[in-house]
Amino acid sequence: MSRVETIGRATMYLGDCRDILPTLGKIDAVVTDPPYEFETSGGGIFRRGRENMDQIAAAGLDKGFDYSLLSAEQFGCAIVFAHNDQWAGLLPHLAAEFPRYAICQWHKTNPMPVANKHYQPDTEIYVHAWKPGYHPAGELPQKQRFILAPNGQDGDIDHPTVKPLKVMLKIIGNVTGASICDPFMGSGTTGVAAVQMGRQFIGIERDPKYFDIACRRIEDAQRQGDFFTEAAA
Ligand SMILES: C[S@@+](CC[C@H](N)C(=O)[O-])C[C@H]1O[C@@H](n2cnc3c(N)ncnc32)[C@H](O)[C@@H]1O
Repeated sequence: MSRVETIGRATMYLGDCRDILPTLGKIDAVVTDPPYEFETSGGGIFRRGRENMDQIAAAGLDKGFDYSLLSAEQFGCAIVFAHNDQWAGLLPHLAAEFPRYAICQWHKTNPMPVANKHYQPDTEIYVHAWKPGYHPAGELPQKQRFILAPNGQDGDIDHPTVKPLKVMLKIIGNVTGASICDPFMGSGTTGVAAVQMGRQFIGIERDPKYFDIACRRIEDAQRQGDFFTEAAA
């Protein structure tokens, strides 16, 4: 492992989560948007509308991940995004590990206007799976299985698959537990949402460029949170 950064309630590891996760012990929740696994060829005349898929492939984010990293031995609950083509393998894994799960959706209000021989890319599925004691948190209005939000970055963030903060804030609000880990941290959106909501965050990212972006965003989020707390005191 080459670097660990601790910034207030957040600890970030630069390295491979397959090496680092086994050293971390038990954590309440894993909330993650891991590398997708999909076929990047094809698209025909619609290929021009799929430039983002080329960027994802160029960053090596089309090769999937080892599902066994999401274990009920280590985590009380798991909230995981995945590509359409991963669910046939990932859902049976989560269902075998965790006794309860819900299939939830982020509906994009501004999907790319392409469909070709498939559906519009207007929905991303995430699954929330949990052990007893880690059921979804929140009051009735927060317990919707979907969120409506535009696709797009909150600011100029140099990463091909940044999740909107609005989506991650909704998701963190549904987590029971103080400690939240994102082993595929990317630009750190899960961490920004976690520290904004007063949770402890543990992030892992193997790419130094994305690691630095995540540390900067999480530091800013925490500084802003502390400023508002102090101003209110
Ligand atoms: C889909 S992106 C996450 C994007 C994130 N949700 C955001 O909002 O920025 C997945 C990230 O996992 C990282 N990654 C892939 N394999 C990894 C591994 N074995 N260990 C740690 N990080 C890894 C990639 O570099 C990439 O930044």
